[in-house]
Amino acid sequence: MSTPQAPAALRVALLGCGVVGTQVVRILLEHSEELTARVGTRLELAGIAVRDTSIKRDPIVPAHLLTEDAEQLVQSVDLVVEVMGGIEPARTLITRALESSATVITANKALLAQHGPELYETADRVGVDLSFEAAVAGAIPIIRPIRDSLAGDKIKRVLGIVNGTTNYVLDQMTKDGLSLETAVKDAQELGYAEADPTADVEGHDAAAKAAILASLAFHTRVSLKDVACEGITSVTADDVAWASKSGHVIKLLAICEQTAGGVSARVHPALVPLGHPLSTVGGAFNAVFVEAENAGPLMFYGQGAGGAPTASAVMGDLVSAARNRLSGAKGAGESTYADLEILDPGEATTRYQVRLSVADKPGVLARIADVFAANGVSIETVTQAPRADKHGAALLVVTTHAGTEAALAQTVRQVADLDVIEEVMSVLRVEGS
Ligand code: NDP
Ligand code: HSE
Repeated sequence: MSTPQAPAALRVALLGCGVVGTQVVRILLEHSEELTARVGTRLELAGIAVRDTSIKRDPIVPAHLLTEDAEQLVQSVDLVVEVMGGIEPARTLITRALESSATVITANKALLAQHGPELYETADRVGVDLSFEAAVAGAIPIIRPIRDSLAGDKIKRVLGIVNGTTNYVLDQMTKDGLSLETAVKDAQELGYAEADPTADVEGHDAAAKAAILASLAFHTRVSLKDVACEGITSVTADDVAWASKSGHVIKLLAICEQTAGGVSARVHPALVPLGHPLSTVGGAFNAVFVEAENAGPLMFYGQGAGGAPTASAVMGDLVSAARNRLSGAKGAGESTYADLEILDPGEATTRYQVRLSVADKPGVLARIADVFAANGVSIETVTQAPRADKHGAALLVVTTHAGTEAALAQTVRQVADLDVIEEVMSVLRVEGS
């Protein structure tokens, strides 16, 4: 029996040649021979679509391959690598590419978190791969482990530090006592944060990644609008210092959970106990902690951003998708068979640490404890110390057992209204214990 002859080359179109795209070009050209051996045929860079061909680029980028006509480019190739970012024209171009039977690799989490389902459907209908390892946590292999390696297990929870900029900022606040503003400025100077760091510090970038992780982990469509999102803008130097004193570190976490009622995905700053593996993730690094029924805890760690690390993940997808094209195979598509209910953010369970400035007089603790009890929130620990800076006032730190967000938030609201409370100094969730 004769096997079909491999084509002399597979034609690859690159959409975008910025931080990530430039490194994809470099790897494709510098490692061409090895890639040919791994794929089984040559990967030929057929064209590179950019916004402006007149911009000065890294000398590694072949000028004759640059084009501003992305539409034309995607219709005449075997594989399309989308690293331009944004919703449009990326969405239309990927759709066109898939409709023309091209395999697509993308690093675009914002697009997938909003329009993933329609793109997965198109890829499935046409019978081609749509791969996106680089869209979550840069270089870290996490999409494939969740989708393939753990396909026979049951994932219960995913806790991720999936935004390098905010992890760097919180780390600088913790280690060097910097203010949020100074740490963000540092992150911009080092090239971690965007010129406009809003998507990072407000948690939107992490929320897009949480939506992708939750969808994969729980075989249920979870989109950006389903993710409760709170960034790090309200975290103060005082919060960070108190976190250390109480044996924690503050991290911006993406938390995806399956409980009896359904699934939830949320992003917020949280106190992580110093003994938890996520507490050691410093600088701009990312890590994803997965809890599976049979595998138990797993942790994936590495560089979550940057040109070369992200290009590494893109190239892994490219090689794998190219092999599939040659063999006529197709990787797993979107899996939504479980179709679990998406819980209201108020139904998610967590623990709170509440720092209060209170009047230091008899009966105060009892009144506060009554409010917690009335809302069904169980107190785990209470510590009290007189405030050195304020006569007649005490600092009270209450840590709760797990409760629903709704009950915990209502408790804090009611406590804040008590006449013995001078100030609610901070409310932070405690995760990972
Ligand atoms: P850049 O802004 O550095 O590069 C974007 C590239 O896309 C540029 O070459 C730009 O062209 C081109 N482009 C933008 N809009 C258009 C358009 N309308 N038509 C044609 N070309 C266009 O982005 P990054 O490389 O940083 O990011 C790319 C993608 O990778 C994004 O989806 C991002 O979320 C994702 N990602 C990035 C990571 C990182 O560390 N940077 C990490 C993980 C994922 P021109 O050069 O002419 O301006
Ligand atoms: N701005 C993102 C970060 C880039 O800081 O992690 C990677 O998605």
